[in-house]
Formats: sequence, C-alpha cells, structure tokens
Amino acid sequence: MDIARTPSNPDGNIEMADAAMQPHDPPEIRREDYRPFAWLVPETRIDFELGLDCTRVRSRLTVVRNAKADKSPTIRLNGDGITATSVKVDGEPTSAFTMDGDDLLLTLPGDAHEIAIETEIDPASNSQLMGLYASNGMLCTQCESEGFRRLTFFPDRPDVLSTYTVRMSGPKAQFPILLCNGNRVATGEKGEDHWAEWHDPWPKPSYLFALVAGDLVANTDSFTTMNGREVELNVWVREGDLERTQHAMDSLKRSMKWDEEAFGREYDLDLFNIVAVSDFNMGAMENKGLNVFNTKYVLADPDTATDGDFDAVEGVIGHEYFHNWSGNRITCRDWFQLSLKEGFTVLRDQLFSQDMGSAPVKRIEDVRILRSAQFPEDSGPLAHPIRPDSYREISNFYTATVYNKGAEVIRMMRTMAGEERFREGTDLYFDRHDGEAATCEDFVKSIEDGAGLDLTQFRLWYSQAGTPKVTVDLSHEGDEAVLKLGQTVPETPGQPLKQPMPIPLKLALFDRATGRHSGEQLVVLDKASAEYRFKGFAEKPVLSINRGFSAPVTVERSIPRDELVFLAARDDDPFARYEAMQDLMVGHLVAAVGGTLSDDERKGGSEDIAEAMRAILTDAKLDDLMRGELMTMPSQTYIAEQMDVSDPGRIHAEREALKAELGSRLSAEMHALYDRAEKIPFSLEAEAKGARKVKTLVLAYAAASDPAKAAELAAYQYERADNMTDRQGALMVLTGLDGVERTNKLLDFYNRYRGNALVVDKWFALQASSLHPDVVDHVKALAEHPDFTLRNPNRVRSLYMAFAANPHGFHAADGEGYRMIGDLILALDPINAQTAARFVPPLGRWRRIEPGRAAMMREQLERIAEAPKLSRDTFEQVTRSLG
Ligand code: BES
Ligand code: ZN
Repeated sequence: MDIARTPSNPDGNIEMADAAMQPHDPPEIRREDYRPFAWLVPETRIDFELGLDCTRVRSRLTVVRNAKADKSPTIRLNGDGITATSVKVDGEPTSAFTMDGDDLLLTLPGDAHEIAIETEIDPASNSQLMGLYASNGMLCTQCESEGFRRLTFFPDRPDVLSTYTVRMSGPKAQFPILLCNGNRVATGEKGEDHWAEWHDPWPKPSYLFALVAGDLVANTDSFTTMNGREVELNVWVREGDLERTQHAMDSLKRSMKWDEEAFGREYDLDLFNIVAVSDFNMGAMENKGLNVFNTKYVLADPDTATDGDFDAVEGVIGHEYFHNWSGNRITCRDWFQLSLKEGFTVLRDQLFSQDMGSAPVKRIEDVRILRSAQFPEDSGPLAHPIRPDSYREISNFYTATVYNKGAEVIRMMRTMAGEERFREGTDLYFDRHDGEAATCEDFVKSIEDGAGLDLTQFRLWYSQAGTPKVTVDLSHEGDEAVLKLGQTVPETPGQPLKQPMPIPLKLALFDRATGRHSGEQLVVLDKASAEYRFKGFAEKPVLSINRGFSAPVTVERSIPRDELVFLAARDDDPFARYEAMQDLMVGHLVAAVGGTLSDDERKGGSEDIAEAMRAILTDAKLDDLMRGELMTMPSQTYIAEQMDVSDPGRIHAEREALKAELGSRLSAEMHALYDRAEKIPFSLEAEAKGARKVKTLVLAYAAASDPAKAAELAAYQYERADNMTDRQGALMVLTGLDGVERTNKLLDFYNRYRGNALVVDKWFALQASSLHPDVVDHVKALAEHPDFTLRNPNRVRSLYMAFAANPHGFHAADGEGYRMIGDLILALDPINAQTAARFVPPLGRWRRIEPGRAAMMREQLERIAEAPKLSRDTFEQVTRSLG
C-alpha cells in the first residue's frame, strides 16, 4: 500500500520524481474479468522463525495444474513489499523468476511441482497492521483481504484453497504462547527457543491464515457440540485483562449453541481460540480456529464497559464465530462476492442478537445504523451495489452497503420465504457449496431452489445501487381502502438507469375507532407502480407500512399528523411505532429547517410531538429499553438525508430547539421517569439496562432545556454510578455543558481510568462527540495530549471518527472541522492507509451540503489529492469523492 512499492517500482528502491510516484490510476479490477487460477495449491507448509524485528518465513507450496482453468506455464505469486531471499523449484535453487510489480512469476514446465520460497520481514516496523505485525510485544497477523502477500509470495486470492501445516519457533521467554489455525500437533524446545507445529485439516484461502505469538493468558472452557464432540475454547488476553473475559466466553458458547439451533451448523475443530489485540484496524477477524479480535470487542466488565459495549462484544463474537460456516467452510470466489460472507454473516449476527435480547430494540438499532451509515453512502459519490462491479483497493469495499444493506437483502428473502422455507434454502446452500469458494449467485440459487422462490427479478438487488424510494398513497372508495404504491431507484455513479425491484412491504390497516387491524399482510411491489384494494372498510383506515422495516427503502407519503400520533401510540409493531415517532419529528424538523413553517404550524407540530412523547413516557406497558428507542430523536445525519441539500448548522439548531422544547414541556414526566428508573439496582438484565438508557436520555433532554439543572443531575448520576453506563452517560451530558462539573468530572474520569486504554478511548470520544460550542478547539488540544497517538487505530478513531461523526464539530461554519480531518488523513496515510481512507467519506458528502461548506469540503479533498505520495486506499476514495 505504500507508494514506494507501486507496480512500476517493485523493489521500492528506485528514487522517482514526485509526479511519477503518484499511483495515478492504480489499475481497476473488474468483476467480469474473473478467471479461475491456473494452478491448485493442495498443500502449504510454512516455517516461521519469529522475531519482533526480523521474522524469517520459509514456505513450501505443492502446486498442480488446475484442469478447470486455462493452461498457463506461469504461476503468479502475489507479494507486497517483500523480497525473496531464496526461490527453489522441486528442490533446486532458481533465478528463473521475474517480478511483475510486487508479484513473483515463475514458469513451470510440468503439471506438478514444489515451490520453496524464503522471505524476511520486519514486523516491528509494520505500522499498516496488515500482514505480520507487532502489538505490545506480541506478534500477530491480519491477512484479509490481501495481507498474506506481505508474509510470503503466494496466490493470495480467495479461490485458492490449501491445507496448511505451520511450524513456529522463537524465544520462549518472549513468546511463551504460539498459536496458529487448526490443531497443535507437536511441540518442542531447543535451548532458549521453543517451537510448535500446527495443522489445519480444512482447506482454506490465504486470507484466513493467522498466527499469534506472545505472552498471553487464557480463559479456558469447553463446549459440547450437538453431536457430542468436545471443543476446547480459549480467550487469550494479556495478563491483567483476564478478569474481563467472562462475557466474551459466555457469548462464544451462546453463539455456538445458537448456530446449531438456528442454522444447524456445528463447529468442526477440537479447538477454538480467540485472541485480543490492542492494535487492530478492524473490529475482529474470523481466521479459521483462531479469531483475532480488537480488545474493544472482547474485554468487558460493568466498571469499564457500557451496556452498548456488552451487546457489541456479544454481537461481534457471534459474527466471527458464524463465519466459520458462512465465510470459512464456504468462502468467496473473489472479493466482489464479499457480501456473500459479510452480508449473510451480519444477518446471522443480527438474528442471534435479536434472540439473545430484545428483538424489536435490536431491529430498531440495526435500522438506525443502516440509515445513518448506509443510506448516505447509497446517495453519495461512493454508492455501489452490494456486489460491486469494480474496485481499485478492496479494503475500501468493506462498506455499510456490502455489510448492512447486504444483510437487509438476505433478510428480504427470508421475509418472502418465511422462516422455515428460508432455513431450507440455507441448508441447501451449506450442503451444496461446502468446501467451495462460491458466488452471490450460488447463494441466491440455493435459496431459490431450497425455499421455492423465484428470485429472477430479485437479483437486481445485487446489481443496482441506490436506496429505492417508495411512494404511498391511501384513499377510500365505498367500502374499500385503495393503496397506490410506486417505486423509483435513484441514479448512482455509473448507473443512470434503473429497473424496478421486488420490494416486500409488510403492512396493516388499522381501524381508527377500535385501534385494531385484521392481520398483517405482505405485498411485494415489483413494478414501477401498482394498486391494491382492501375490502371491508366503512371508514378510511390508518396505514402502517414497511412494518419491521421489511425493505431497506425510504417511504414517502403525505400522512396526516394525527395518524402518526395514532400509530406512535398504538401500532402493535414496535418498529412501526418507532417509525411513526421518527416521522413525526423528522417531518417537523425538515419543515422547520426549510423555513416553511408558520408560527402556528411550528407550535402545532411541536405540541403533537410532545403529546406523542408524553404517551410514551407514561405508557406503563412499555419496557424501558423500548421506551428509550421511542424517546430517541432522529439523528442529524438522518434528517439531512431527507433533504437534497442541507445546512448542518440549521439542522443542529432546529434539532436542539425541539429537544429543548420537549425537555421543558415534559419535564415533570421525564423526572418522574428518572426517579423510577434510578431505584432499579445494577444488573445486566433488560429491566436494569432499560432503566439506565432512559436515565441518560432524560439527562440529554434536560441539558437542552435546563442546562443548570441537567449539570447538577448529571454530576449526581456520575458520583453515584456503580457502572460505566451511568458514569459515561452522565459525563457525556456534562461534556456538552459549560461549568466546573464538566472540568471536574472529565479530570476524575481520566485519573480513575488512565491505565485502561479502552476507557481512555471513551474519554477522548466523549469530548470529540460533544455538543459543546468549543468542540473544535477541544479536539485540537486533545490531539496534543500525551496519550494521543496516530499509531493506534482505536485511539485515532476515538478522537477523530467521533469528531467526524459529530456534525456540530465537523461542520463548524468556518471549515476548521474539515481542515482537521484533511490534516489527519494526510498525516495518517503513510502510517496506516486503511484507517486513513476511512476518513474520506465524511468529506465526500459535499454535494449535499450547502454551497459555502461544500466548497470548503471540496477544497480539502483537492488538497489531499494533490499530496505527493498517497496510498491506493486514500487515492481511490478521494478521486471517487471528487467525482
Ligand atoms: N472479515 C471481517 C474483518 C475484516 C474486515 C478483515 C475488513 C479485513 C478487512 C470481519 O468478519 C468483520 O466483518 N468484522 C467487523 C465486525 C462485524 C461485527 C461486522 C469489523 O471488523 O468491523
Ligand atoms: Zn465479517
């Protein structure tokens, strides 16, 4: 990824003029160009002599011609920034290889050979955290997508499956624990050194390879599978972290059990290891039998982790575990098929979390993520289908579209098929493609055959980008309700024209008088427009549509406010109830921001919202987790999404004004709710989690309406807190306010947790996401804090991702927020390109921001584009964003 190693400069040792150094037009890889690899690699043996700043890698590949591919005399072994110190074919040293950029090409005369290659790498200087790197004195790997080629020359593509036998050796004192994929088959000692040999019986692509070496301790347990096999489970962490691993272990056991019950999937090795590392680009990685996790998604106890953190640990542990089938046993043919494993596995982790906790609340959270992360992607310059057609850097395509929209697309199939038939489809998929590198088409075909659906037209969801817009019109004729639905799929980059897609919409028609409906129905809108008639309605009913968020679309309809109030109070679908509440608030805010509200309309609108909110605050039948969802205001991003072009300053002002008004109108109800919730003692049960959620929401409303009182109450909550959720919630509110409590509590929090990196991350993030007017200056100062470093992705994200996601700071009127993110991208790009590139999309939204700010956003993108040395990752994102 480093520009010193572009294709024209394979060894990275030739000085070139700056202009020539631009990776201008790194090649575009196209899905239609896929060809099977000319060789199979049935077996791979690797010997690692481990050292922090020098690791020697000796690999031996058995290669045979692939009868199913075009015959080619050469074999391409990918490399990235490595040099071969020795190359042998069938035991004989050879210099008859050529370099094509970073790749090593060998011409092989026969149909079967053994290739042996030696490389030397320096893990300690690997700041990209791809390939083999050092973290806190330990060694670990991250290979997906193309990191394996930083270890050794290899056909580093997911359709080349090989059986790995790995020997690791190194100083015992430094690396007492040696882990790799599969099972440990032998160990030994030699002087100060020791070694271990591992064998993974399951053929896998190189991206699933992993090794870990370091001074680690384990929380060990076991799981008995549905067929009575005993599996050893370990969660490996650094010494002092052991006491925070129990939740991860419990989550792992629940995941294993759930996958047996919900999908009939049994674990297939005798050992399952999870290792937590503190320097990690992503959340976690599903390497076969050896999952590597960001510490953030392993370590949790009530004193240091919030309820949200506990849920995230469970969800991510589930996700990576579920990949063992959806990803590892069946992997992807090429990276265009990424959603095959990621979209499906996200759906699986969502369903798991739904089953472990409150299903409606989890559904609402997932929709919120989709709307705030995926919808903006789908309506901006980086829009792409869930199965992209081309890329320059695959790391840029681990997106909310591939993941979250990908999950929604599969969820729609499940909705149309029904749970049982969907299960027949997935059973067939697992059975039919086990051991293969498959495509999205293979998946769809299996669901089609197994579930008995016709998905011909539905396949458009894989190829068309853009969030469909559904228009809804309900009228009444005689005793019939007449529903007219229409759909359009917006233009996206490279896709000017779209076809209608099948959109499954769950709906119910409520009788106004009784408040009941006669059953939920599913209509699948598969044309540009369609009309549906429902008999037996003497009066016009109230329509509840896209219940459960049955399709990832935006719904446009003119619905009278009193009907939204009705649905917010009585819809029996919790998601629809939430949706009605959101619609009420969004409708009001969009009108307010647009300046089209008369004083009377403004008053009427906020009164209706307050009445609906009052009903929610006082509804004794609601649990507090759900109540918290219903109390949550639409995010600034989601409000902005409703407008073609928006002014972030105005949205912020109107949103805060509504918050303040609700806070003051409903002050009595909110404080009564707080008082009730406060009496519930700490536990991890839903009731107590709900209580904590509504308490902090009340504080947030109070902060807008009565800052002095809010500061007092927040300080009180902070002081009394016996858990991180309450403490962080209180501090979050205080951080947005002025005054001595802000300073005191921020200092107290830092001093209390200064040794705990994950909690210090929260301390940075809270300040970067605050509503304080001086947030930009705060972030600038925090960047100079001794605990801040660009070398740790968690720390970078805690300060700058939090800031970039804070419209109030990022969109500061003078453009200072944009400049800070521009500076960050330029400084971070040479250190960690993958992480740097992830900061580009926020700047890329410029087209939909008012012209003054848009110009300043663009200016930053242009400044980055002109930088002399840019990674492929950042280069691609910046050029696409400038468009
Ligand atoms: N396979 C990915 C990890 C990954 C992502 C590797 C990008 C290389 C590049 C893993 O299964 C994953 O999806 N992790 C998510 C968390 C998950 C719960 C959605 C992540 O790391 O954010
Ligand atoms: Zn994944």
